[in-house]
Amino acid sequence: MTLRKRLFAWMYHTLLSRRGMPDFSDALTRNERAPLLKRAQGDVLEIGAGDGVNLALYPAGVRVTLLEPNRYLLRYMGDGTARAPCAVTGAVCGRGERLPFGAGSFDTVVTMHVLCSVHDQEAVLAEIQRVLRPGGQFLFLEHVAASPRSATLRAQRAINPAWSMVGDGCQLTRRTGAAIYAAGFRVVELREFDAPYPAIVRPHISGVARV
Ligand SMILES: C[S@@+](CC[C@H](N)C(=O)[O-])C[C@H]1O[C@@H](n2cnc3c(N)ncnc32)[C@H](O)[C@@H]1O
Repeated sequence: MTLRKRLFAWMYHTLLSRRGMPDFSDALTRNERAPLLKRAQGDVLEIGAGDGVNLALYPAGVRVTLLEPNRYLLRYMGDGTARAPCAVTGAVCGRGERLPFGAGSFDTVVTMHVLCSVHDQEAVLAEIQRVLRPGGQFLFLEHVAASPRSATLRAQRAINPAWSMVGDGCQLTRRTGAAIYAAGFRVVELREFDAPYPAIVRPHISGVARV
């Protein structure tokens, strides 16, 4: 298990996140990640922060706490922290299902490509609502299951077991949008779109949910 976590951390840091540097040649980073993170306000919690790749995209003036369960990824966070325009108030080892923070601790909670991997989406979404202050916002960007009965969904189902093994538990077939709508947020603004990626990770959602 530890070896798998370590390997995933290395793979993610070296090949996917380009050593914690946001990749502006990637249209998803330019058109989705960056504008969404510019909406962050006040005290921010990013769940499943990886190696801190998003830090450079937050506005100056926010105070960001990073939560990440993979301690090997936490070790890679140094560079991103140094490049951040915002204040980084902590990098904590923990899981979204049981956030180690009191109720009403944050103005903004962020997940990006994380709800595909958590063990229990419902528990994570409940925890997000617990730690948000009244009026607080949950910003999300997630890849999701393709439309029912589509060829892409069939491909996602076929590839999912191998994908999940290599991708540290990442699931291609989650209906994360439905889970967010069902979670009990006061308001949900959610957009479905296709990311410029291979078909199995093309269907995406992004948006803001408020408590
Ligand atoms: C694909 S990476 C995405 C990292 C980063 N958010 C990004 O935008 O690139 C998925 C991340 O979710 C984290 N993760 C997996 N299960 C989690 C859980 N139960 N709670 C919090 N984070 C989790 C992983 O350790 C990993 O860092």
